[in-house]
This record gives sequence, structure tokens and C-alpha cells, in this order.
Amino acid sequence: IAPALVDAHGRGHNYLRISLTERCNLRCAYCMPAEGVDLTPDGRLLTASEVERLVHIFARAGVDKVRLTGGEPTVRRDLEDIVRRVSAAPGVRDVSVTTNGVALERRLEGLKANGLTRLNLSLDTLVPAKFEFMTRRKGQERVMRSIDRAVELGFDSVKVNVVVMRGQNDDEILDFVELTKTKPINVRFIEYMPFDGNKWSERKMVSYAEMRARIDEKYILRRADDPRQEVAKNFYVDGHVGTVSFITSMTNHFCSGCNRLRIMADGNLKVCLFGNAEVSLRDAMREGATDDEILKIIGDAVQRKKAKHAGMHELADLDNRAMIKIGG
Ligand code: GTP
Ligand code: 5AD
Ligand code: SF4
Repeated sequence: IAPALVDAHGRGHNYLRISLTERCNLRCAYCMPAEGVDLTPDGRLLTASEVERLVHIFARAGVDKVRLTGGEPTVRRDLEDIVRRVSAAPGVRDVSVTTNGVALERRLEGLKANGLTRLNLSLDTLVPAKFEFMTRRKGQERVMRSIDRAVELGFDSVKVNVVVMRGQNDDEILDFVELTKTKPINVRFIEYMPFDGNKWSERKMVSYAEMRARIDEKYILRRADDPRQEVAKNFYVDGHVGTVSFITSMTNHFCSGCNRLRIMADGNLKVCLFGNAEVSLRDAMREGATDDEILKIIGDAVQRKKAKHAGMHELADLDNRAMIKIGG
């Protein structure tokens, strides 16, 4: 990894998350405020060519994993084209997408053909009526079909993200674990995190400890040792083909192993999910900066990255973006 991508705390950044749009076909309350967000005008969003150029710059500096996010990335009709360009960048060996899966099924084959290696799907409930309540749209059955089709197509991994919220879907934790009995998927329970407009409270968040206590009453989880830098704690479940994980950003942060950088749809670089210092790579590109100049801008931002996020209670007051404008 090039020195530009190694921060002051010795962390090398080989994983880039790129948000492709601020739009979404769902309206989950944990991700966006009820009144919606101000959308960046289309002309100020990164084009497929700009995404491609940035990926080449990052890949030359050592990034080998790229995740495409949103908003909802399938809203972009050129998603397949972007996947193709990103996976063709020398050095990139892993191209993944995080999607709500509602409009995914018929695009899966094309995405795979264009180089997509892994897939993370968001699904917070197994009950269609509750899905409609939580997302304010229909589509639970379509997500399930996308999951099954993704498994059939044989991606390197199919992960299902479940943001656990007290009083909404915490009664389904065991049902989600049960899903891994027959489906070779990785179900990941995520602690609810605070972002602008999502009305986070500690009470609504279900902690890792609480999730484990509930699951351990019925299932035996065995820790999987994972050499890769991951945000999740991974477990096997006795007798299941799938696996279960926990993303514990709030009660058990994993910042010391952080290898991620983020570019948002408007071209701003964010060096930490919970950092609000941003710099525009779009403007630099559009003003004619060379690749080396852009890498210098990136390197300066990486040098300013903090050792860890500010702590659960402080984050609730951080002036950050709404999640839909970050991409996770
Ligand atoms: P892989 O590990 O490559 O499978 O991806 P991922 O889990 O990082 O990506 P995904 O988009 O599926 O995100 C799952 C959850 O992890 C979301 O709630 C993200 O906001 C959260 N997350 C992803 N990266 C980070 C990170 O660097 N820091 C923190 N605190 N949370 C993260
Ligand atoms: N807390 C935790 N996870 C969240 N996600 C979206 N908003 C939040 C939040 N407030 C998850 C989505 C998606 C991933 C990118 O981030 O469910 O799977
Ligand atoms: Fe990395 Fe920031 Fe997430 Fe910590 S909170 S793991 S430093 S992105």
C-alpha cells in the first residue's frame, strides 16, 4: 500500500466504498429522515468515467477491494457498466455491491457477468407487512427471491444485513438465525447507528451483548477465525449451512483495524464513516488535477483520519450526513 493510503495510526487502506446515488426505491427510517434529503443535482454526481478514474488512482496506490453503495445502487441504470469498469482496473480483485435487493433479481446475471464477486443485501424483516411498514414500500418477497437467485448464481459470498431496532424487528432475531439452517448465506446483525435525521437513541439500539444473549438460549455459535479485515464478528451455527455475524460499531468498535475509505455520490471523500471532514475529489478532477495531484489530496485527508470514532454517545450529536448520502 502506497504511503498516501497509510494513516498516522499505521492503518493501510485497501478498501474503497463508492456511493453511486443518493436516491433509493425504499424509505427506511434508520437511513433517511421522513422529509427526505436534498438531492445533489445530477450534473454534480460522479459519472461512470469519473468513478473509473478514481478507482484507477486508488488501485495504483494499493486499493484492491471496491464496494459500490448508494442510496440504492440499482437505481443507476449504468451499474453494470460501472461494475465492468471497476473490475477491469488493474489491482482490483474484489468488486461488491450493497443493495436492498428489491430491483435486483433480473440484474444479477448481468452484474456477475460484468465482474461482481460478492453481494450484500439489506433485509430487516421476514414479514412482508412489516417490511412495508419499515421501508414504506412493498418488496419483501422480491428481496427473498434476489437472495435465492444470488445463492444460485454462486457469488463468493451472499451476506444479508439486518439492522436490529428495538420494538421493530428484534423479535425476529431467532428467525433470521433459523434462515441460515438451509440457506448458505451470512446473516449479519447490525447495531443501529446514529446519522442525521434518523432519530437514533440508545434505547432503540439492541446491543451485541443483548443479541448474543437471546441467540445463545437457542443456538450454539462458534467463533470463526477471520484473517481478513472485516467489520463483522463471524460465527458458525452448529448444524447450519449459513453463518451468523455481528457488526458492533456502537458497543464494540473495530476502528483499530479500519481499512476503509469512502467516496460519496457527489464526489466527496470521507475517511471515516463517523468523521465529517470531507474533501471534493470531483472538483479536483473537474478543475483539471492530475492523478498525482488527486492522490496528494487523498493522502492529506488520510493523514488527518482519527484513531477511532468519538464514542457512542458523542456520535448521536455529530453533525454528519444522513446515511442515505453516505452509503454505509
Ligand atoms: P464486507 O465486509 O466487504 O462484506 O462489507 P461491509 O460489511 O463493510 O459493507 P456493508 O455495506 O454490507 O455494510 C454493513 C454495515 O457495516 C453497515 O451498517 C455499514 O454502515 C457498516 N460499516 C461498513 N464499513 C464500516 C466502517 O468502516 N466502520 C463502521 N463503523 N461501520 C462500517
Ligand atoms: N445503522 C446501522 N446500519 C445501517 N444501515 C443503514 N442505516 C444504518 C444505521 N442507521 C445499513 C443498511 C445497509 C448498510 C449499507 O448499512 O442496512 O445494509
Ligand atoms: Fe473506520 Fe471510522 Fe468505521 Fe472506525 S468508525 S471503523 S475509523 S470508518
